[in-house]
Amino acid sequence: MDGNGRWAERKSKHRVLGHKHGVKSLRKAIVFANEQKIEALTIFAFSSENWQRPEQEVSMLMELFFTVLNSEVKKLHKNNIKFKVIGDLSGFSERLQKKVIEAEHKTENNSGLTVSVAANYGGRWDITQATKKLASLVASGELNSDDINEQMLDQAISLSGLPPVDLMIRTGGDQRISNFLLWQLAYAELYFTDVLWPDFDAQEFQNALDVFSSKERRFGKTSAQLS
Ligand code: IPE
Ligand code: MG
Repeated sequence: MDGNGRWAERKSKHRVLGHKHGVKSLRKAIVFANEQKIEALTIFAFSSENWQRPEQEVSMLMELFFTVLNSEVKKLHKNNIKFKVIGDLSGFSERLQKKVIEAEHKTENNSGLTVSVAANYGGRWDITQATKKLASLVASGELNSDDINEQMLDQAISLSGLPPVDLMIRTGGDQRISNFLLWQLAYAELYFTDVLWPDFDAQEFQNALDVFSSKERRFGKTSAQLS
C-alpha cells in the first residue's frame, strides 16, 4: 500500500492525512476482494524497517492501527471475514497486541475471505522465524535435519494453510518487493501501478485482476504442455 505520504504532500497536506485516506482504500479493497470471492488478501501495513521513520509518524501509524482495529473488526466479523496479523507482534505495545489477539480470536472460525495484515513484518524475518521453528525440532530430536523439505518450511512460515499467493500488487510507482513475502511470492504475478494507494479503488483492483487473468502461468512448464 505505497504512496500515502506522496498523496498528501501533493495536496500540501500532512502525511497523516494520506494514511487516513489509505485506510479508506483498504476498506474498499477488502469489500472488493470479498465480493470477488478472493480467498486471501494480505496487506503490507508496516514493515520491520518502518520503525526508522520519524517518531511522530510511527506513533501516529500505531494509533491509527489501534483505532481502525477497534472500529472495523465487528464489520469484518459480520461479513464472515477472518482477520490475522503476520509479523513480529512483540514489537507493539501491550494494548495493541491485546487488540490484535482479540480480533484474531473473534474471527478465527469465519469461513470467508482471510485478511492478513503484515505489521512489523519482513520477508527475511519470516524465513528466519520459520527456520528457527524447524531448528528447534531438530534440537529436540523430533526432526532429522536431512528430512527438512520445502513443505515443512512452507508450514512454518506466515500464511501457511492459505492458497499460494497468485498476485502481488504494489501501488506508488516503485517496482520492488521491499522485503514483503519473499518465500511466498515465488510464483506470484507481480503487478506495479503508479496509482498512489489512497487513489486505489475497485476499478484499479479490477484492472490488476484483468492483467493477472491475461497471464499464462506456466510454473516452469512450456506453453505447449499447458494446452
Ligand atoms: C505507505 O505509504 C504506507 C505505510 C508505509 C504505512 P508511504 O507512507 O510509504 O507513502 P510514500 O511512499 O511516502 O508516498
Ligand atoms: Mg513509501
